[in-house]
Amino acid sequence: MHKTSKISGFYKLSPEKRLKIVRELAGLSKEEAELLRKTGALELKQANRMIENVIGTTELPLGIATNFLINNRDYLIPMAIEEPSVVAAASNAAKMARPGGGFRTESTPPIMVGQIQLVDVKNPVEAREKILKAKKRILAKANEQDPILVKLGGGAKDIEVRVLTTHLGPMIIIHLLIDVRDAMGANVVNTMCEAVAPLIEELTGGRVFLRIVSNLAAYRLARAKAVFTKEALGGEEVVEGILQAYAFAAADSYRCATHNKGVMNGVIAVALATANDTRALEAGAHAYAAKSGAYKPLTHWERTVEGDLSGWIELPVAVGTIGGATAVHPVAKVCRKILGVQSACELGEVMAAVGLAQNLAAMRALVSEGIQRGHLKLHARNIAVTAGATGELIDIVARRMIEEGKVSYDGAIAILKELEKKGSRS
Ligand code: MEV
Repeated sequence: MHKTSKISGFYKLSPEKRLKIVRELAGLSKEEAELLRKTGALELKQANRMIENVIGTTELPLGIATNFLINNRDYLIPMAIEEPSVVAAASNAAKMARPGGGFRTESTPPIMVGQIQLVDVKNPVEAREKILKAKKRILAKANEQDPILVKLGGGAKDIEVRVLTTHLGPMIIIHLLIDVRDAMGANVVNTMCEAVAPLIEELTGGRVFLRIVSNLAAYRLARAKAVFTKEALGGEEVVEGILQAYAFAAADSYRCATHNKGVMNGVIAVALATANDTRALEAGAHAYAAKSGAYKPLTHWERTVEGDLSGWIELPVAVGTIGGATAVHPVAKVCRKILGVQSACELGEVMAAVGLAQNLAAMRALVSEGIQRGHLKLHARNIAVTAGATGELIDIVARRMIEEGKVSYDGAIAILKELEKKGSRS
């Protein structure tokens, strides 16, 4: 059969029929196709309502980070991630934060930015004035779109108008500042931007093109800070090493990208567990990290007068606890219950604390034993399982391979054979 990805009417088919086509085109075995169809808590018909062209669902491990004390309250933190060591690292760092009182967090109100792009304006400065003068009308028009949000204390609160110089000439960018309460907010922001666009055109005689949320959620920030005592960290040398690592990241974009990636390991794992938009968080975090014009660490570290390590983080958190996938995904709903967060702001603060913890754990490992040792344990266990170890043999084989400095499939087979021999002799 000629393989083409141009499949007419694919979207009209049932997930089963789509899977049949994909199975034929991709040469999947019956077992492989069955794997895709086999759902966990997220049923096929639910998934089919979430996105288009569904043929199955996919899964990630869901772990719980322990030890988190945030604003004097204990949290269990669900994290969905494919990478080993991340959950352990977060839990470990959270434990080390406890002697210093745990994490303190705060956040700004959940204000998202909607952008409206206005072009072909004869006199941009005059047009700007006209828009600003009509602020009340614009906000009223926006707020007509969502009376419930307004009733809850949210809605469009303010506008900003900038004249932007571009290679196609000047354009006016209007920002609608919208309090989205506990939603992630992209939907309501886009709706409001689209609704006020004709009014903006009418006021200025210009032409509107884009009307869309900005993922640089620079008004919707979460902050977390914590002090890690030198004793909890393992001594003055570790504190010094972490400060050196931080200085490296602050001075070098190559390192800084990895530093911030470590932060996002934590943030995104919580976002995935709660079915939040991970791409919006990534985009916002990295754009915010570059807000000074240079790409910088999302975290900041310094030595206290006592010689301990004090750290803080500030990042945009466009996350929701209502609406979208957060309201539909059954596992996400349970994860939110485990977290026990009451609002989107609180969820953002938890993410900030996890991001800070993750960064601390990564730097601590990097400046001491390196991160491979932690990874090696899980890796060795996986290899032991692949070689056929079951039950308690998994840990025994993994430990032996690490002790002998040979973590490989052949090594695991050899150890298993040796253990079998011993077993049959005794
Ligand atoms: C790995 O996923 C994350 C780290 O590379 C972060 C860092 O280097 O700071 C360990």
